This record gives sequence, structure tokens and C-alpha cells, in this order.
Amino acid sequence: MATVKGLEEIVAAQTAISDIDGKLGKLWYSGYSIDELVEESTFEEVTYLVHHGRLPTQSELDELTEQMVNDRDAAEFVTALMPTLAEQTSPMSMLRTGVSAASAYDPDGWDQSPEANSRKAVRITALMPTLIAYYDRHRRGLDIVEPNPKLPHAANFLYMLSGEEPSQEAARAFDQTFIIYVDHTMNASTFCARVVASTLSDIHSAVVAAIAALKGPLHGGANEQAQRMLEEIGEVDRAESYVKDLFERKQRIMGFGHRVYKTEDPRATILRRLSRELGQAVGDTKWYDISERVEKVVMEEKGLYPNVDFYAGSVLHYLGLSTDLFTPMFAAGRTAGWTAHIREQYADNRLIRPESDYIGPTDQHYVPIEDRTEGSNEQEAAS
Ligand SMILES: CC(C)(COP(=O)(O)OP(=O)(O)OC[C@H]1O[C@@H](n2cnc3c(N)ncnc32)[C@H](O)[C@@H]1OP(=O)(O)O)[C@@H](O)C(=O)NCCC(=O)NCCS
Repeated sequence: MATVKGLEEIVAAQTAISDIDGKLGKLWYSGYSIDELVEESTFEEVTYLVHHGRLPTQSELDELTEQMVNDRDAAEFVTALMPTLAEQTSPMSMLRTGVSAASAYDPDGWDQSPEANSRKAVRITALMPTLIAYYDRHRRGLDIVEPNPKLPHAANFLYMLSGEEPSQEAARAFDQTFIIYVDHTMNASTFCARVVASTLSDIHSAVVAAIAALKGPLHGGANEQAQRMLEEIGEVDRAESYVKDLFERKQRIMGFGHRVYKTEDPRATILRRLSRELGQAVGDTKWYDISERVEKVVMEEKGLYPNVDFYAGSVLHYLGLSTDLFTPMFAAGRTAGWTAHIREQYADNRLIRPESDYIGPTDQHYVPIEDRTEGSNEQEAAS
């Protein structure tokens, strides 16, 4: 069988969670277009949707919202780790460790029944902002801010980071950004989560694996790099020469291009609007203006469209997140999708175990260690 490097175009699972049409530039969660969900829905409601395949009734949504509020608190053990993690690790490493540590104190313990996994999925999703905010407050030398049970998920996240209740506009824009990050079919971190789940390992372990995959710069991280690029450009008038210089040096520009979308990524369309609106609301459209100019030059020079990460950079910056929290924020939103995929995998499991194509040496014979000369192994391997 031919090797498919990167498993490109291999269908590895059936899913009812999300779908993409790369030619039309469309993304749906359980059949609902991302545009409609961003306009009409909330992160809590979309979390219900991707887990149940349908929108909740009011009482179902109230129940989930209450559960998420109750599950925001971190276990004492996890909270106690934060000062050290804030001092010693990057935000994504903290998240990986934080979720792993939280597994030790999950009220459902090692119960892997579908009911327990459903509760754990909500618990992990609810906990992510608390971990990120506690970490960030510690490293800035500030007291942690306890979750506010009166605030929805996204607004509470901003509140725990800054210590101030966000404006309605900021809370709504952040909630919409959360919705955008919930799911995106079989991306690397989701696949990773499903591989771990397929061994019937526990849900926390599968989420930890997903975080580890998202941490890599080829997956998460482009939103951070996009914002750093805007900061390097600094002024609208410098955008054109910066981009042209980048291309002359055969460099890639972060936040542009996509494996699946051959037209504009629908998430970029939404985030472009949010970036403009947030810039106007704070009376500083500089980041939006630079982004717009960069986009124009990239289109003229290379015909590339922006992806989700390009305008996410300025949106999250306007909302007050420090740049290295952009990928953790992505992880926090994607946890709703990861956990939905993990539960979907458990529900109809088959161990994910592809083949490999062996290209190493054959017919080797064991040489006693005293008879081996330096480099002999490499020579044999190369021959
Ligand atoms: C996302 C990405 C990996 C998808 O790549 P892909 O579908 O595998 O496309 P390829 O890497 O085969 O690139 C196709 C062509 O477009 C060019 N291209 C794609 N993305 C580019 C970018 N961001 N900047 C400059 N050129 C780019 C490639 O150089 C290549 O040109 P060539 O045919 O002349 O060599 C790629 O677009 C990229 O690296 N983007 C920047 C990182 C990023 O934003 N990641 C977040 C994705 S959501």
C-alpha cells in the first residue's frame, strides 16, 4: 500500500460534529453554519450542540450552564501548582500539566462510563479558563481572581484575567471567538485525542494529548505569530515593504493559506469584522488597519486568503490577552470539540492503528559489543 505522508485526504473516522467545504469556504457544526451560530448562539449552547448533535431546550441549556459554572473551580492541588507552573513553564505546558493534574481530583475518579465521561467533558471545558487566568495572574504578580458565577463562560474568562467585568461588546466578541474555535473536523490535535481515546485511555489523557499536539507551531501558534508580525510592522505604511521582503526571502506569512480552504476561511471573515468593530470600540484601529493592508498585499502578491489565525491575533489583542495566551485560548475553545470527538470515538470505537512502511536495513546479524567499531552501525544502516 502506498505511504500517505501526513495522512492527507485519508478518512480516519465518521463524525457528526463538524464539516467543512473548502471550495465554498463553509464550516458547519452539526449542520449549523458557523456564521449563524456566531450571530445567534453562545459558547455554552454550541458546547451542548457538538456534544448532543442538536440545540438544547431552555432547561437543558440552563442545566449545562449551571454545571459549567459549578465546574469552574480548580481543585486545591491544581491551584497550588500554579505559582510554580507560572514561574517555570510556558502557558501551553501549564495547560497540559494542569489538565493532567486535574484528573487526579476529578469527582468521577476513574469511572469511564458514558455518564461519567459526559460530566468530565463539561468539567474539563469549564476548567480551562480558570487554569489560564490563574497562571497569568501569578506570573504578573497579581492575586488570582475567583470565577464569577454570575458571568457566562467567555465573560468570566476575561473577568478572571483582568479582575474587571468586561463590557458587553467585549464579552460578546470573546464569546463569538470561542464559538469559532470549538471544532474543525479532523485536525492534528483532534486526531491525536481520538487516537488516545481509541486505546480506551481516559478522557483527561486524550485531552492532554490534544493539548500537546496543539502546542506545536505547525498547528496552534500561528495566531500568536500573526500578532507578533503586526507588532513588527508597527505602521500601516510599512506593511507593503514588510510583506514583499518576506516573500523575497521565500518566507511564509503566518495566518495565510490553508490545507482545506481554497477560498476565504469563513472564520477569517467573522474575525475580520470583529477586529474592525473592536478597534473602533476602543478608538484604536491600528492593528486592524495594518492587518487589512497586509491582507491586500498578500492577495496581490500570492493570491493567498487569510485563515482563522490572522485576524484572531488582533481580536485577542484588542480583548486584552497577552500574545502567548492566544493558543491557550484556542485550546480552551477547542476543548468542547475535543471532548465531543473523544466521546464520539468511545461510542463506536475501533483501535486506531495504521500501518507503516519499513525502509530500514534487513538481514542484520547481532555483533557482540566488543567486536563493534565506532560508526560501524551507521555504516551498516546506510548500506
Ligand atoms: C496552513 C498551510 C500549512 C497549508 O499549506 P498547504 O495546503 O500544505 O499548502 P502548501 O504548503 O503546499 O503551499 C502551496 C503554495 O502556497 C504557498 N503558501 C501557502 N501558504 C503560504 C503562506 N502562508 N505564505 C507564503 N506562501 C504560502 C506555498 O509556498 C506554496 O507555493 P509553491 O507552490 O510556489 O511552493 C500553509 O498555508 C502555511 O504554512 N500557512 C502559514 C501558517 C498558518 O497560518 N497556519 C495556520 C493554519 S490554520
